[in-house]
Amino acid sequence: MPKLTFIDRAGTRHEIDAHVGLSVMEIARRNGIDIEGACEGSLACSTCHVIVDPEDYDRLSEPTEDEEDMLDLAFGLTHTSRLSCQVIMTEELDGLTVTLPAATRNMMVG
Ligand code: FES
Repeated sequence: MPKLTFIDRAGTRHEIDAHVGLSVMEIARRNGIDIEGACEGSLACSTCHVIVDPEDYDRLSEPTEDEEDMLDLAFGLTHTSRLSCQVIMTEELDGLTVTLPAATRNMMVG
C-alpha cells in the first residue's frame, strides 16, 4: 500500500498507509490528522489546505480552476499549496509528503 507522510503543525512527521482512491483529506481524517475539511470535499472552503513538498508537487495532476479560486482564499498560501480533498491517492503518489499550514485563520484571532 502506498505511503503518505503528513507533517503536522508541531512539525511531527506521520507516515500513514494511504488507501488508493481516497483523497488526502479523507486519509488524514481517518488517521486522526487534524485537517478540518469544512465542506466535506465539495470545493466550497479552503480549510483542507496543505502544502505539498516541492519535490512531490509535479507528481500531482494540475489543480482545476475551481480549486485555484478557492486556494486563493487559503491562509498561508504557497506555490505548492493544494486543497487536500482534491488530491486523490494513487499508487504513483507513494511517498507523497504534505505539511499542514502553521495556523488557520481562526487560530490567528486574538
Ligand atoms: Fe472544503 Fe476541501 S474540504 S475544499
